[in-house]
Amino acid sequence: MTNSCRICGAPIAPFMSFGEQPIANGFLPQSEFAREYFFEMAVCFCEACTMFQLLEQPAPEQMFHEHYAFFSGTSRLMTEHFRLFAEEVIANHLPKENPFVVEIGSNDGIMLQNFKAQGIRHLGIEPSANVAAVAREKGINTVSKFFSKETAKEIVAEHGHADAFLAANCMCHIPTFRSVVAGIAELLSDNGVAIFEDPYLGDVIENTSYDQIYDEHVFLFSLSSIRRAFSEYGLEVFDVAPQETHGGSMRFYIGRQGRRAPSTRVQELEAREDRIGLQHKGTYLKFKSNVEHSRSELVRVLKEFKAAGKRVVGYAATSKSTTILNYCKIGPELIDYISDTTPIKQGKFSPGMHIPVRAYEEFQRSHPEAALLFAYNHQKEIFAKEKEYHGQWILFVPEVHIR
Ligand code: TYD
Repeated sequence: MTNSCRICGAPIAPFMSFGEQPIANGFLPQSEFAREYFFEMAVCFCEACTMFQLLEQPAPEQMFHEHYAFFSGTSRLMTEHFRLFAEEVIANHLPKENPFVVEIGSNDGIMLQNFKAQGIRHLGIEPSANVAAVAREKGINTVSKFFSKETAKEIVAEHGHADAFLAANCMCHIPTFRSVVAGIAELLSDNGVAIFEDPYLGDVIENTSYDQIYDEHVFLFSLSSIRRAFSEYGLEVFDVAPQETHGGSMRFYIGRQGRRAPSTRVQELEAREDRIGLQHKGTYLKFKSNVEHSRSELVRVLKEFKAAGKRVVGYAATSKSTTILNYCKIGPELIDYISDTTPIKQGKFSPGMHIPVRAYEEFQRSHPEAALLFAYNHQKEIFAKEKEYHGQWILFVPEVHIR
């Protein structure tokens, strides 16, 4: 069977499989183990348009629903990150007269609350009903839908064209990406901007952070792949801004072609992508062997702790941890439990490998000898908070090491 690229339709073939994977955010009670959903997670690099993508992805309804377990507002630093993001949009990209902002994947309103606070017209498009309800409780205008060209037409008919289209950690989730890009072209005013950020492929390749590859991330973007995907709709990247969030993200700024001169940051990123070799298949084969090496190192370290009679726990039941645990086949025999601050994950089990998820207080109480830090992207915040913890930290990015 030949598969085709989700963006340009060229034939693609996977260069690597991560084996059977469950829904990354599918934390579940024991009663649901027997019915748990798995899919084979394989990744492809399209040589024609350079888009990095999953071969198969579970249906969106399997991942984003009324029990969706991710609430953006749980991290203090992320709340601050989105406040600054919103301020930058307001200062540099919105007209003074009656601006209108649309955000897709607006979650619990962590970004839009900043626009609301300044009385700016806004609309959140959030398909997961439970998180959308939290946003609405905060008074943030939110509809529970998937964004597409049709949705864009409805928004324009009801509210007019948007001055800014925003998305954070959302665009890379959308298999019907072309329809979203078509929707953006439909939605934006002539001078409007689309600004979105997602985990950056260059960082994933350079740091072997393969945990960024999971069911929700159907794509990992580069400047090169984003440029090609938008050019078809008369849109172009005029600026980029690297972010520390999610272990390395990229913010892309897009407008109608020819309206703004591309910034020097665009040229710098182009040069960086050439250096990493993001447009060449060989880079991905090297990545595969780096991932395999990372897996054997991590399993070796965990087994050594176990053999020495030391207790290892996981710190933060992230979506990203699902790929690591299931690819490396790490279960409760190596990790006693994973502590997490999200109430709806506590008392459940990790997807696939079924490690118990416990309340954060358990981590403080039980003094484990080692903690595998799954939320390494929040390490500044976590190390500051855990000064009293005297055990060892195990990290796996950019390579497996103990701190
Ligand atoms: P994040 O890296 O944002 O998630 P994901 O990989 O799912 O996109 O981490 C969010 C998870 O980490 C969430 O379940 C809460 C948990 N967490 C803690 O338990 N303690 C912490 O100090 C932080 C920052 C996160």
